[in-house]
Amino acid sequence: MNKISTKLALYFTIAVMIMEAFLMFYLHEKIVSNRIEEELQSIQLRGNSHRDVLEDNYSQDTLHHIALMESKTETEVLITDRNHGKIISSADFSSKLDALIESTPSSLGREGKILESDYRDQRYLATVTSFKTDSESGYVYMFKSTAPLRELIKELNAHFLIAGISSLFLLVIIHFTLSKILTRPLIRMKRATEKISKGDYEVALPRLGNDEIGELGESINKLSKDLKTMKRDRAEFLGSISHELRTPLTYVQGYTNVALRENIDEKDRQEYLRIIQEETSTIVALVENLFELAKLDENTFTILKEHVELCPLLRKIHTKMAPAFNSEGISLDVECHEDLTLYADPIRLEQILLNLLDNARKYSKAGSATRLHVTAEAHSLVFTIADEGIGIPQSELPHIFERLYRVEKSRSRELGGTGLGLSIVKMLVEAHGGDISITSSEGVGTTVMLTMPNEEDRE
Ligand SMILES: Nc1ncnc2c1ncn2[C@@H]1O[C@H](COP(=O)(O)OP(=O)(O)OP(=O)(O)O)[C@@H](O)[C@H]1O
Ligand SMILES: [Mg+2]
Repeated sequence: MNKISTKLALYFTIAVMIMEAFLMFYLHEKIVSNRIEEELQSIQLRGNSHRDVLEDNYSQDTLHHIALMESKTETEVLITDRNHGKIISSADFSSKLDALIESTPSSLGREGKILESDYRDQRYLATVTSFKTDSESGYVYMFKSTAPLRELIKELNAHFLIAGISSLFLLVIIHFTLSKILTRPLIRMKRATEKISKGDYEVALPRLGNDEIGELGESINKLSKDLKTMKRDRAEFLGSISHELRTPLTYVQGYTNVALRENIDEKDRQEYLRIIQEETSTIVALVENLFELAKLDENTFTILKEHVELCPLLRKIHTKMAPAFNSEGISLDVECHEDLTLYADPIRLEQILLNLLDNARKYSKAGSATRLHVTAEAHSLVFTIADEGIGIPQSELPHIFERLYRVEKSRSRELGGTGLGLSIVKMLVEAHGGDISITSSEGVGTTVMLTMPNEEDRE
């Protein structure tokens, strides 16, 4: 479950461990080699200074003095003649040193040479330098026991071991806290999403910080909120739809039953059938509109924009709508003066305008007039549809684009309204990047302003 955080923490721990091991090894080697170097240098310098004294003043006294001095220190001295024959020494050296002395190179230079630097396996570190006076010449060997060095390095190793173990311990603790810190918010989010997938949208993840994990938490919070509103909206919408369908269906059912009776007047039967026909077309319109909305919702519809010659389109719409207007005694006035073109989907544009004109007709009384005209603006065309109808109360205006929303339920139903027209119009307009606004005054009339962008590159 908490794999990713464990993995991350593990990678981190391993990386730090490798780094640490490398550093420790390097440090250890450096300390040891420096130490040996220092020791060798110091005995070499000492040997050289003995040589200087001998060359200045070669005498038995000097020799004794040097041997005495070295016997009081941790270093030892051996002075030999040219043929490696011992002249004097500060300690009693075993014959094991013979091989070492034999290995003295023939040319030593002024600084002398290091004879032995292996502190691990040999008893002594050793250097040699040569002296030469008028009467004598030979070698000054300096030795330093390696035992204390080994002791020192042993101690150093112990320190390194303690440091290594405690840092390993620390790393393990860091590993676990790190994986916990990383895991906790992830587990919380996982639980939250599980809850959401089970349909429980009451999740509220606390603010988890400003990093990516925090942002993810915020997104989950938002998702649950969105899903909650979506679920509520859907339930409401379904409720309204079934209500909308039930009413006409009840009529159809009722009138069918009556029409089926045998002993009724033929004229009445005709009337009932006419009502059934009317209600059926309401149902068909509702279902068609719902289908249209579903398509728009799913974004499966496409807007195929092209350059539309407006006047022919408006004339076509006028021809289509005029009979319906005229039969109700409403005049329809469509103006088209200039040679305007609009970059839009002609079928959708017609659908929008027909819907708006249909509203103007439905909610107007005989003797009134409806006027549609277009004005060109810098980057858009503005369609204005003004009627002299019943108008919409101010309090209702904010809702009329909602699905299934109708101002006066019963009246508008009589007129065959489903309350879906404007929501479809709004979606189509928005898909074109346009804007729609409605102003209305009760009893005076309604004006719809439709602004459609008219630039190819503005899509
Ligand atoms: N021009 C108008 N004048 C007065 N009221 C209007 C006008 N246009 C819309 N309305 C009100 O807004 C409501 C919503 O309009 P909409 O076009 O969405 O639905 P509808 O016309 O009732 O049904 P549909 O268009 O789906 O057949 C209408 O029921 C009506 O009350
Ligand atoms: Mg309508």
